[in-house]
Amino acid sequence: MNLTLKIWRQKSAKDKGRMVEYKVTEISEHMSFLEMMDVLNEQLINKGDEPVAFDHDCREGICGMCSMYINGEAHGPDRGVTTCQLHMRMFKDGDTIFIEPFRAKAFPVIKDLVVNRGAFERIQQAGGYISVNTSGNTQDANATSISKEAADKAMDAATCIGCGACVASCKNSSAMLFVGAKVSQYALLPQGQVEATDRVLNMVAQMDAEGFGNCTNTGACEVECPKGISLENIARMNREYLSASLKS
Ligand code: SF4
Ligand code: FES
Repeated sequence: MNLTLKIWRQKSAKDKGRMVEYKVTEISEHMSFLEMMDVLNEQLINKGDEPVAFDHDCREGICGMCSMYINGEAHGPDRGVTTCQLHMRMFKDGDTIFIEPFRAKAFPVIKDLVVNRGAFERIQQAGGYISVNTSGNTQDANATSISKEAADKAMDAATCIGCGACVASCKNSSAMLFVGAKVSQYALLPQGQVEATDRVLNMVAQMDAEGFGNCTNTGACEVECPKGISLENIARMNREYLSASLKS
């Protein structure tokens, strides 16, 4: 495949940034999208040009680093996959592909396609943890019975990889799907009950302080989420928040 790439280039957070056109040739349909980007960067390095900066780590859909906006969609045109799992067979010979960073006030661009998602880390620090007795008489995990339904729903929520596609896809740059997943994974389990009240209040307060927008139930986040995190988690977070507000 021969492709035209229109890529957002931005030297630093202060640079204005612009779209730059590149051509890549002999791209195999079996390559991943990031492998195609590697081909481009090799080409740029060989010419003495600056390679395109983009985030990646695991390249198998686990770490959530490979945040790119491809042809107007977070993680590109496929469903249920991250950019690193996106295959070039989703594109046709001769296509023009637009590649941009995730755009949200709370995710400032660092360079080219790399954004700072530290806001998610700070929301996690505000309440995304549980207290466990490690004094030597720690209870065996199997000793606490949990219904299959609650365990399954908690596990589904815990599959959120913190990629930020939900924020990037939302017209309000809302982080409610991410925070809803992080609150839900503990709210559904007995181990999460000790800090439950403070957790939801603190995580939501941090989310607001970071400058994320409000949820207006558009649902774009659920559609673009590579892990299929359900809107049900936002509803659960809202219930948890209301009940915590009444208690505090
Ligand atoms: S909810 Fe989905 S889209 Fe949002 S950060 Fe988690 S995995 Fe990514
Ligand atoms: S590089 Fe880890 S999810 Fe894509």
